[in-house]
Amino acid sequence: MSDVAIVGAGYVGVPLAQVFAEAGVSVVLVDVDADRVAALNRGESYIEDVPSDLRESPALKLVELLRGEGANISYYDPHVPELPEQGLASASLDGALEAADCVAIVTAHSGIDYDDLTARAKLVVDFRNATGSNGSLNGRVWKL
Ligand SMILES: NC(=O)c1ccc[n+]([C@@H]2O[C@H](COP(=O)([O-])OP(=O)(O)OC[C@H]3O[C@@H](n4cnc5c(N)ncnc54)[C@H](O)[C@@H]3O)[C@@H](O)[C@H]2O)c1
Repeated sequence: MSDVAIVGAGYVGVPLAQVFAEAGVSVVLVDVDADRVAALNRGESYIEDVPSDLRESPALKLVELLRGEGANISYYDPHVPELPEQGLASASLDGALEAADCVAIVTAHSGIDYDDLTARAKLVVDFRNATGSNGSLNGRVWKL
């Protein structure tokens, strides 16, 4: 039995559920959108500032694939201070930007100035359209 039921797994419901869960409250989150429910059950967050369950994070697969090609990886994520299994800790955003030949945006965070990132990065692969129309006009930004 849960302590709280939240109807609607959207921009209000998901962060609210996260806050309750982090406080130790048992939560059931209900939604009519089957795709949204399936994504959440896979541990994928589509909400800014709500991290995905890292066990399912595509970012980890990306780290593995890029390392397989010989890349040196650094990352920045204010919600994920370290990735012990990968032997990585979050760098400063400035440090990560300056060091990188290519910046991959795999999750969007509201605290990041993507216009500034776009202006400073040598090359950007933007998986989340975080760079918006500014990125679309910039020849160094690739969107998928
Ligand atoms: N986002 C905001 O800043 C904000 C601020 C104030 C009030 N609100 C209000 O909060 C409510 C939720 O907003 P939101 O931004 O999370 O919306 P959202 O569109 O991001 O999410 C709403 C979710 O509810 C689900 N849903 C719709 N009908 C349902 C039903 N009958 N049963 C179960 N799930 C259902 C949808 O599939 C969707 O996933 C809205 O009424 C909105 O007006 C939102």
